[in-house]
Order: sequence, then C-alpha cells, then structure tokens
Amino acid sequence: MTLFLKLGGWLIRILAAVILLVMLTNCTMLGLNYASLDVDNKPDARPQIEATTLAEWESGRDALIETFEDLVYGPWPEGQAVTLVSRTMIDEGFAGGRGTLEELLIEVGAGDGARRFHVALALPDSDTPVPLIISQTFSSNCGAFPGATLTAPGGGDCADHETVPGFVEAIFGEFIALVPIDQYFDRGYGYATWQAGEFIPDRQGEAQTVMNTMVGDGVTAPTGTLAGWGYGFSAIIDALEGDPSIDADAIAVMGHSRHAKSAMVAAVYDRRIAAVVSHQSGFGGAAASRSDTGETVERMVEGARALGVLRMEGYPHWFAPEFADYASHAEDLPIDQHQFIALVAPTPMLLGNGRRDVWSDPNSTYRMAEAADPVYELYGTDGLDQDGMQDFNAEATLSYFLRPGGHSITQRDIDAFLEFLDAAMPQGNQVPDASNGDSLPSQ
Ligand code: GCU
Repeated sequence: MTLFLKLGGWLIRILAAVILLVMLTNCTMLGLNYASLDVDNKPDARPQIEATTLAEWESGRDALIETFEDLVYGPWPEGQAVTLVSRTMIDEGFAGGRGTLEELLIEVGAGDGARRFHVALALPDSDTPVPLIISQTFSSNCGAFPGATLTAPGGGDCADHETVPGFVEAIFGEFIALVPIDQYFDRGYGYATWQAGEFIPDRQGEAQTVMNTMVGDGVTAPTGTLAGWGYGFSAIIDALEGDPSIDADAIAVMGHSRHAKSAMVAAVYDRRIAAVVSHQSGFGGAAASRSDTGETVERMVEGARALGVLRMEGYPHWFAPEFADYASHAEDLPIDQHQFIALVAPTPMLLGNGRRDVWSDPNSTYRMAEAADPVYELYGTDGLDQDGMQDFNAEATLSYFLRPGGHSITQRDIDAFLEFLDAAMPQGNQVPDASNGDSLPSQ
C-alpha cells in the first residue's frame, strides 16, 4: 500500500513536470526548438512597401501610423502633461565611486487620471554631457540595482523588497533584471531604468481601467499598454530635458520582449530618440503578424489552454481592442510589421534574437527587417546591411543580431547592444575621465 502511494506521488510529480515543460516550451521560454535560417523559402512580406522616393514614403507615413493605431496599438497618448515631481540623489559614489545614482518621480497626466512612476538614473562622472540609455523593464528598480536605497514597488525601501529569484535568472539570463552598470559606464553611457507596470499595470482588466482614467481636455488616453508604456519613454526624455549632464542628441531606448515592442512604438512617435535596442520583440514588435512560426494574433489576445486544462493568459491589454477582431483571420490584416519597422526609420535600431526563441520568431523578424530596409535606404542610410541572419553587422543602421539560446538577456546580448550603440551613438564610445576632462578610447 505504501509503495502504491509512493508510486502515485511520483507519477503526479512527473505529470506536473511534463505539463510545466509543455507550457514553457509552448512559449519557448525553455527554447527546445530552434529558428530556421532559411528566409528565401517563405512568402514575401505583404503589403509590399511601394514608395520609391523619400517624399512618397513621408507623404504616406501619417496615414500608415493611423492604420496601426486603428488596428493594432491604439493611439499614442498625445497631450498628456509630464511633471518631474522630484529628483533625489541616492548615491553620490555609485558603482565604486564612478558616478551617481538618482531617483526621479515622474507624473504623466493630471487630476484623477495622473499616473506616477519612479526612474533610477545612473550617470557616470564626466565633464561632458553623456549619452543615455533609457531602459523599460518588467523588473523593479530594486532588481535593476540591487543594494541601492531606491523606492520599492508599492512604496517603501528596496532593502525590504525581494529581488529577482535565481531561477528567473537561470531561465531568462543573468541580465534579465540586473543592470551591468560597470559595462555601460566603461563605454561612457548613463543608464535610466523603470518598471513599465508601475506606470500602467501589466494586467488585463486593471490596465484598461487605468488607461480609461487617462482622459482630459485635449488629451488622448491610450487603449493599449504598448502605446501607453511607449509614452513613458517620452515622458522621461521630457523630464530630463535641459539637463546639462545628458547629451540630448544621444538618447537611446531599450527593452526586452514586451518592452522591446513598446520601445519601437516610442521610436515611431518620438523622433528625439537617437537609437533603439529592441531585443526579442517578437509578435507586435518586429516579427510578422502573419507568420506560421511563433506567436499569433489569436494566441496573443485570447491566450490558450495547455493539454485542454491549464489556462495560459493572453495579453489583449497590450493592444487596441480592435486588434482582437483579427484573432480568427490574421490573414486579413491590411498591414504587417515590416511597415512598423519602416516607421522607425531612419532611427538606428538593433533587433536582437535568440535562435531557440522561436516564440519571438527570429526568422520572420529577419524577413520583416529585409522588407523594411528599402525605407531605411530612402533616408540615405545603409539600412540592413548583412548577409543573412547570422551575419551581424553592429554598424548597420538597421542591425539584426542572432545568438544561440532562448528568451533571455545574456552577456552576449549586452556585448551586441554596446557594439551597436557605440556605432549608432558614437558619443558613447568613450571612457570619461572627470579628473582632467580628457576622454580615453575604450579598451
Ligand atoms: C509572452 C508574450 C510575448 C512577449 C513575452 C514577454 O511570451 O507571448 O509576446 O514578448 O511574453 O514579454 O516576455
């Protein structure tokens, strides 16, 4: 009898492990599959971008943005007031005395619909204005800079707040939350990070309720969080405007996964953004919406059931409600994401990918970049200048990077980000020396 019970217990455990494995594989968190490198045997991106001159492209740009707003992302939250509520010095000798860490509290909107969020801003000591990377993440600022006395989610001090558990780093990479600030400081970059969910919660239902309050005279409320979160990047740029320690012409936005999607949205609307690091943006980012690998409109907005039992939530709140209309017939979407990439042009953009991150669809991402390339070229840039998915060219204006591995942020990614940013924002490739004002080339 005891043996029977023991066996039963083990069977249940094995079944639970298999279910978990299937779920994780389904979202390729574990990445048991890998992306095809063949891009020539797939259908062409449609509709084809017809513009043959820059004037022609630019004359249609606003209408194309409107179509993306109507069908995919909802409106950009135009007209929202931005207030820098406070800016507090947290650590004057941050990163072993190499710079400072400050905390900004930013308010977007006014009255009952006003939203507040904290930004952790790390700046290297420098006599000249520094280029800045603004990163949006799922992580709290406590997870980004462990040990710093920043404000924890929901108030209170980071000291009492749990940071990211080890197993999350094991699956999603060493730098999924942690910011390797020394590496950014080594190359002269300042780094600002913020948790998107503090601004607009990342929960179906709650997100819409919050967005519905962001109304007012002459103000547009977002209907999808990607556009809402995208606006957060702009709010940070507004709040830092005129800061003499930051080079306003060298501000990059960065995000992973859902935050890579919103970084792209920001770059479409906010032309002050000098470069974009869009890492594993996948569906609703740089991957095709009508690809037969990776995520689908249906899965995105409706979620799924694993093994007919376990419910996996979708993310309808990221998009305009109208997007759900295409769940059962994505083929009828009149647009696709190559046009979205093209709307970012000519801003330099890095599209990061992992070969085993099939859920984010590295193959269709490359094809979308190829199809967007002519628009980058209309602006006189080199656009996507590489020979296939594995031929990373960090110096290209539209740069596609593929490494082995899954959905994560690893050292290899950070190296690629820095290589790209150094080329896109050459002001960054310096080691600032505050003592004598000289800059030394980085090693
Ligand atoms: C889910 C979602 C993806 C998204 C990812 C993330 O897997 O389906 O579209 O990119 O979450 O943000 O981590």
